[in-house]
Amino acid sequence: MGQVLRVEGGQRLEGRVIISGAKNSAAAILPATTLTEEPCFLRHVPVIADVLVLLEILNAVGFKARFLTGPDGTARAEPAGAVVEVRQAAEGDRIVPHDLAKKLRASILFLGPLLTRFGKAKVALPGGCDIGSRPIDLHLKGLAAMGADIRVEHGFVTGQVPGGRLHGAEIYLDFPSVGATENIMMAATLADGQTVIHNPAKEPEIVDLATFLNSMGAQVRGAGTDLIRITGQHRLNGAAHTLIPDRIEAGTYLLAGLACGGTIRVENVIAKHLEAVIAKVIETGAEVSISEDAIVARGPLRPRAVHITTIPYPGFPTDLQPQFTAYLTRAEGTSVVYERVFENRFRHVDELNRLGACIKCDGSTAVIEGVPRLTGAPLFASDLRMAAALVIGSLMAEGISVIQGVEHLLRGYEDPVGKLRGLGARVELVEEGRLSELSFRLTEREG
Ligand code: EPZ
Repeated sequence: MGQVLRVEGGQRLEGRVIISGAKNSAAAILPATTLTEEPCFLRHVPVIADVLVLLEILNAVGFKARFLTGPDGTARAEPAGAVVEVRQAAEGDRIVPHDLAKKLRASILFLGPLLTRFGKAKVALPGGCDIGSRPIDLHLKGLAAMGADIRVEHGFVTGQVPGGRLHGAEIYLDFPSVGATENIMMAATLADGQTVIHNPAKEPEIVDLATFLNSMGAQVRGAGTDLIRITGQHRLNGAAHTLIPDRIEAGTYLLAGLACGGTIRVENVIAKHLEAVIAKVIETGAEVSISEDAIVARGPLRPRAVHITTIPYPGFPTDLQPQFTAYLTRAEGTSVVYERVFENRFRHVDELNRLGACIKCDGSTAVIEGVPRLTGAPLFASDLRMAAALVIGSLMAEGISVIQGVEHLLRGYEDPVGKLRGLGARVELVEEGRLSELSFRLTEREG
């Protein structure tokens, strides 16, 4: 039996929440530590399930990776969050096994660093959120352009470097893929010569990765712009780095607070990373004030309806689309959401409609007819940001909701129950077997 999240909705959320380190920075920077034989120290690492899997993968490919402070009971995490140490340990094959790779999309981000450092790599095809086909063709095309011999067979990507060392290349990305940009960047740091990436992703996590790589002695220029140049080095050194705050976590709590009509202060956040989201919530009638590392927002009684189109950074982020859709379910008027990054990212719509929302989907478009109130119901989450959207929807709803699939939430949010309770939310993790004590049984759902 697993756990479920029991939510007693209809409460106003008030107070402050401190944002953790960025999951999607950790997803690339942890693999990047394999580019050197020297130890690396990462601060402000979020203590989430995905990071624990990344540490397991590092250990599987011959690196000793552990939390120095934080979840394993040693000294409590520093104010800057948990610290992770990574040291090269064993020799041997560098294989990312299927049972770990299938747990998250970021497993593919070990391909570039292992290939360029050791001349060969074998990485099982990745798993992760089911929000679309999520091909890796741009990753493989970029690495092949740098001289790698790439094969996909038996569920693995296997790479060899015939010449012993990758060489620089001029690479044009058909789509500004975050993962492809990261894999190529990391591979280029030890390649022979210069690599230029045209049409790269510009997300803040790309810049965070480049900052870490440069602190290791790499030469990465232009991260965050339309052109990234990397000049290969013979070796990189160990480094210490503090991850940027998680802009998607910050946006999630902002929207939870706004959706429940309270005033919420989100601390340890870089407001610039959320410009598109802040502009959009102001359009809905929210009051937002920004200080150095905090955002304070006060929700309207009912938001005004708006239109949203998700596009690569600095546009509106696809990772906050489900949460924003939940917020708009009680808007005055009809909102429209265009999902332009992933082809299957409206799975939260049917579940939100179970709360009494009125959303219709047509391919990559959702039309949300605002309703005055939502009521609690049994819900089922099947991916990370969908789970976050259902938490927001159930916090808005009057009465009890129970969310199955809460393990998806724990993949990407550090201590979500504690942080929500700190805002006055009535939420608790409950063993599924205890559901009968709740005000309804999940079996009603199967009826
Ligand atoms: C990263 O995924 C993030 N994950 C995602 O966050 C985020 O939604 C996404 O970037 C977009 O911002 C991590 O960083 C671990 P992409 P990634 O490559 O790298 C197509 C979350 O909730 N594409 O930018 O997989 C792809 O199909 C997660 O935290 C190709 O066609 O995203 C998609 O339509 C979800 N070929 C689009 O590009 C490729 O080789 C964006 O994908 C690669 C991607």
